[in-house]
Amino acid sequence: MPQTKLKQKLQIKPLKTIHYRSVDGIYRGVVKEYLDELQTSGRQREFDRERATISRALPLKELEFYAKQGCSFVALIGRRVVGFILVQPLDWVGSAPRTLWLEYIAVGREHRHQGVGLSLLSAVKSYARQHDIQPMLATLNVDNAASRVLLTKSGFDVRNWMIAVYSE
Ligand SMILES: CC(C)(COP(=O)(O)OP(=O)(O)OC[C@H]1O[C@@H](n2cnc3c(N)ncnc32)[C@H](O)[C@@H]1OP(=O)(O)O)[C@@H](O)C(=O)NCCC(=O)NCCS
Repeated sequence: MPQTKLKQKLQIKPLKTIHYRSVDGIYRGVVKEYLDELQTSGRQREFDRERATISRALPLKELEFYAKQGCSFVALIGRRVVGFILVQPLDWVGSAPRTLWLEYIAVGREHRHQGVGLSLLSAVKSYARQHDIQPMLATLNVDNAASRVLLTKSGFDVRNWMIAVYSE
């Protein structure tokens, strides 16, 4: 695990049922922060669109799904959850039989910039190594400076990407 700047000991553990409430609490805080930031910076159109579409909470079923996969983690100081990463394995992306898809990472505001995010990514890399899973794919919002720098620091090759979505 990388060195952190925290005074207390940080532990990274697999996501379990007992963590759901705290994980959801951090998620709600991040969503509020994001919408507030769009509004205060005057990006009204983006704010209106995001406010209408963004999930305000992490449904229990979704957390159960991630916990079952075994490759999502929480960062703990004592028993307090201070951050989390949601990851799922995918079969046959391109020619790779198994890929880890890193979907969402968040660290509570008061614990940022102290190495918690890097420690969560490091836990996912160890999991991939132990399970012989090669590529890791991250869609952790590369437009966001914090996640772009974090991924680059953690050794990811951050590329531009576009996604085409179809639904009826
Ligand atoms: C992105 C996020 C998870 C980073 O967590 P963190 O615990 O603060 O990250 P770390 O302390 O491990 O940071 C590691 C490096 O990433 C970079 N970094 C982190 N936050 C940054 C920011 N806001 N701006 C630019 N670089 C940043 C820095 O280089 C940092 O190293 P340094 O502190 O030694 O300079 C956190 O900012 C967060 O939860 N943001 C809100 C949710 C979000 O945007 N998630 C990503 C989209 S899914």
